[in-house]
Amino acid sequence: MAPDEGFETRAIHAGQAADPTTGAVVPPIYQVSTYLQDAVGEARGGHDYSRTVNPTRTALEECLAALEGATHGFAFASGMAASDTVMRALCRPGGHVVIPDDAYGGTFRLVDKVLGPWGLEHTAVALQDLEAVARAIAPGRTTLVWVETPTNPMLRIADITEISRLAHDAGALLVVDNTFATPYLQQPLALGADVVVHSTTKYLGGHSDVVGGAAVTSDDAVATRLAMHQNSMGAIPGPFDAWLVLRGIRTLAVRMERHCDNAEALVELLVDHPAVTEVNYPGLAAHPGHEVAARQMRRFGGMVSFRVDGGRAAAVDVCNRARLFTLGESLGGVESLIEHPGEMTHQSVAGSPLEVPDDLVRLSVGIESVDDLRADLLQSLSRD
Ligand SMILES: Cc1ncc(COP(=O)(O)O)c(C=O)c1O
Repeated sequence: MAPDEGFETRAIHAGQAADPTTGAVVPPIYQVSTYLQDAVGEARGGHDYSRTVNPTRTALEECLAALEGATHGFAFASGMAASDTVMRALCRPGGHVVIPDDAYGGTFRLVDKVLGPWGLEHTAVALQDLEAVARAIAPGRTTLVWVETPTNPMLRIADITEISRLAHDAGALLVVDNTFATPYLQQPLALGADVVVHSTTKYLGGHSDVVGGAAVTSDDAVATRLAMHQNSMGAIPGPFDAWLVLRGIRTLAVRMERHCDNAEALVELLVDHPAVTEVNYPGLAAHPGHEVAARQMRRFGGMVSFRVDGGRAAAVDVCNRARLFTLGESLGGVESLIEHPGEMTHQSVAGSPLEVPDDLVRLSVGIESVDDLRADLLQSLSRD
């Protein structure tokens, strides 16, 4: 696959040549754990055991790398498995990481509750404040700066280029969780990141039918460590799950355009609604990160969060009244979801500096008919 081919072409063809045995146009699901070896030490194409290598997973890994403009891709059993493997591969006990002060709750829990006792220290910082980021990085001790942009659920924007400079000047690596933006909307490696991670459960899978994760890089030394840790820790996706993510990826570009169209239409509705006190969407000119987002993103994505007048009870009421929007966690599927982060996705950060406002509602805007989404949101917000 030529690296200069368009995004949509790579999504459909990278890693996905027709099967050499049968000509099947879609990579087969190699539901297998072990392989015939032609002689001792002669595994065909290196295929010895499926934790180490599986052709369906390889197809996905090559496609993931091609989408992010990377030379190496690694698929995992979940986004958290990808994050955990990246952190353990690149950090050591006694080290230090910088994380966003509104990181995905699971990322915070991993760093705080799992890797903390392992010996990794962390500082949570507002990534939109570059001076605070610079202060949080401890040269010689900070091994990773972890960026999420846009963040979950506040949709804050971090300047990937500037933070990569700060990290590299201090000898640290920059990891970007690109789950919300997807490689269609944002290409962190081209902006200076060293590693990109994904929850492929979300937009890449795109159909709320699979849990998966990914990490990609163009740094050979980092890739060697990731490969070793992926094989040693074994948090790999099964062949069917790898196949499902790959199937989702083929339509990523067209889905993302529609997610963005629908989100923009609903943001317009929310901004003017009397029950809404604040709308978080980087596409809004008034959003504090708008200029940076416009520079580093193609469009502004399908995630929206907003605060409602009336506190927690009013926010919970909006969520409970939704009909077409499904009340549920996760995001990035074709169907629209609504949730109350304080009591659902972000319960794990309650009482921490990462706590989210309790009058906040988060939408994952799907690709249904926009008029139906508008009507449902209006009836959810009405207090009759
Ligand atoms: C930004 C972000 N990163 C990582 C994850 C974790 O992914 P997974 O649920 O696939 O483990 C999530 C899950 O919601 C997420 O939103």
